[in-house]
Amino acid sequence: MSTRNEQRGNGATNASRRYHEQARAHIAGGVNSNVRLGGTPLCFASGAGSHLTDVDGKVYIDYALGMGPNILGHAPPAVIAEVSRTLSIGQLFAGQNAIELELATQFCGCVPSAELVRFGLSGSEMVQAAMRVARAFTGRPEVVKFEGHYHGWFDNIFINNSAPVASDDPVPRPHHLQSAGQSRIASDDIAVLPWNDAAALERYVVGNAGRIAAIITEPVMLNTGGILPREGYLQHLRRLCSDHGIVLVFDEVITGFRVGLGGAQGLFGIRPDLSVFAKALGAGFPVSALAGRREIMELIASGRVNHSGTYNANVVSVTAALAALRELAAGEQAVYRRLDSVGRALMDGIAAAGRRAGLPLQVSGLPAAFHTCFAEHAIHDYATYTRADHARLGRFLGALLNRGVRPTGRGTWFLSSAHTDADVAETIAAVQAALPEAG
Ligand SMILES: Cc1ncc(COP(=O)(O)O)c(C=O)c1O
Repeated sequence: MSTRNEQRGNGATNASRRYHEQARAHIAGGVNSNVRLGGTPLCFASGAGSHLTDVDGKVYIDYALGMGPNILGHAPPAVIAEVSRTLSIGQLFAGQNAIELELATQFCGCVPSAELVRFGLSGSEMVQAAMRVARAFTGRPEVVKFEGHYHGWFDNIFINNSAPVASDDPVPRPHHLQSAGQSRIASDDIAVLPWNDAAALERYVVGNAGRIAAIITEPVMLNTGGILPREGYLQHLRRLCSDHGIVLVFDEVITGFRVGLGGAQGLFGIRPDLSVFAKALGAGFPVSALAGRREIMELIASGRVNHSGTYNANVVSVTAALAALRELAAGEQAVYRRLDSVGRALMDGIAAAGRRAGLPLQVSGLPAAFHTCFAEHAIHDYATYTRADHARLGRFLGALLNRGVRPTGRGTWFLSSAHTDADVAETIAAVQAALPEAG
């Protein structure tokens, strides 16, 4: 193994711990997103390609990838070059720029359902825009979301991401607010349903269609496990929405530009009415999008529905996204063929290591974004996921981090085009070594 590999591992290192102690004096919790609270407090000096280097100089193969955005790896040269080139032309004009138009043209050419688009900065805010425009379009108040799905941290929708489960939970589910201080009434017109359950969905929709403006879903449940939609489920959802005049919103914040140039809607061949993108769209730079049917998006175009934001379509964000789209589309989408083959090899290698170790290690999802967990039973929805062995997963992830392999703290693995066959081989070896510590 190389010197670089010998430097791997050791969990939170000395300099990271020192940093964390100092940071807590000035930054609430020492972190700037609650998602980073509680995990190993690593402080990073730099990232390049598939690797991160922490402040002690230790190197990690990174599968967290900024929680998904870095689809081209860290500091992708083509994107950095374009951003660097445009830094000197200014950042914000409170007006239009030619780059946003080029981006919008490319974007609408990639995403099957995108007739019109608006750009923003984060996924959370574009989910809000989607709900607002859907309500305006239908004249109805309610939005249906699914348990275990995450659509951002704003008051009205930050519910039932990780609610306790009881076998006699009614449909719709009782609201579980995720944060102290959340407004209770903000989510009054949100209904929470179980996901991947076509019968429960149909019963609820048929009984309440007159008041449902929108149904929002992650097309693949990637915020709780890596759960694929059951055969025909998304088609059923599409049909129900069409039959009852409900706006179908795909939250493609994770899947967009990650599972294919056309996102999950391209992969599964379903056309949502609206969809939300962020993460991989900017390859690490902050940019998001709301896109969809012209007649719905016209409500924003006409000014009847407000969507605003000082930093929307700033030069850096749209330049980065445009450069990323060019990279993703190059060579007849060679990036996606690569993600598919490298990701599959990794998924298969991890699953095989689990079998050899005699452990119920499950690997689920898609090659570009998959999940590992330990369970003897089949996992197909939120309730079954909650019964997985989370303590064992925590030990496994800790043992991997010690060996310089870094999936997300909840067991999700994101691939980038920068991951190499050698990374995969090294990762599988680390998994084999880590599994006995998880047992
Ligand atoms: C599916 C989904 N929707 C929305 C969001 C919120 O996006 P952001 O963190 O950019 O506000 C996330 C973030 O992880 C997400 O995974």
